[in-house]
Amino acid sequence: MKIIVKDNYQELSRLAASVISDLVRKKPDCVLGFATGATPIGTYHELARLHKEEGLDFSKVRSFNLDEYLGLTINLNLPYELDQSYARFMYEELFKRINIREENTHVPYGLTENPEKFCEEYEKMIKDTGGIDLQILGIGGDGHLGFNEPGSSFDSRTRVESLTQKTVDDNYEAFYKKAGVSKDDMPRKALTMGIATILEAKSALMLVSGSSKADIIKKALEDPITTEVTASAIQMFKGDAIVILDKAAASKLTRI
Ligand code: F6R
Repeated sequence: MKIIVKDNYQELSRLAASVISDLVRKKPDCVLGFATGATPIGTYHELARLHKEEGLDFSKVRSFNLDEYLGLTINLNLPYELDQSYARFMYEELFKRINIREENTHVPYGLTENPEKFCEEYEKMIKDTGGIDLQILGIGGDGHLGFNEPGSSFDSRTRVESLTQKTVDDNYEAFYKKAGVSKDDMPRKALTMGIATILEAKSALMLVSGSSKADIIKKALEDPITTEVTASAIQMFKGDAIVILDKAAASKLTRI
């Protein structure tokens, strides 16, 4: 695992985008695993800039997202701030800004009537593409990887997961509060790739920004591997794993 500390969020985003764009140039039909959340937004906007200004071509790229809230999916009739689905997030922050083909993008379908079957199919779809070449990851305030909350098994596969109160609170502060959504109406369940699914990717790129992540990322990267901090599974990653942090997020690391 390679750990890289950049001075600030902007530099982190630029480096992350260059890791992704190098792969897209080398393997135009690569399979990317996308994450949502506040952290990768700068990276996605930089990829959009590379597409617009340097012609970075996504026309053959295929993608799978880590997770989606159960009960939500994209609804373009709603203003963005009222549509908190991860499918909408991907559309607004990345997909509509680049030339990726809609049929090549996959975000777990939050309105599925049969989540168990859907999750099995999602796993199969990933396998059928030959697997994810590069999985982008973040870390939740409670240490989650994807939406694999504390206690999730390292053998877990794509499934429905109940969100912890900490995750619901963090999501409320980061996204829902400004949309005027009441805490009672927030999604409390999600479809998420499992930890075993994530660990099968050929390479991983974890992005971590801000002082609020300093304690939890220290636990994930330097303390013993534990299902209490599912992001610590990154230490077991067999392919190349790169973790890019800004200085604030890296402030508690001791082995730089
Ligand atoms: C999102 C996801 C989550 C986030 C994590 C960090 O698809 O899987 O694990 O990566 O919650 O979110 P931010 O970047 O908002 O701090």
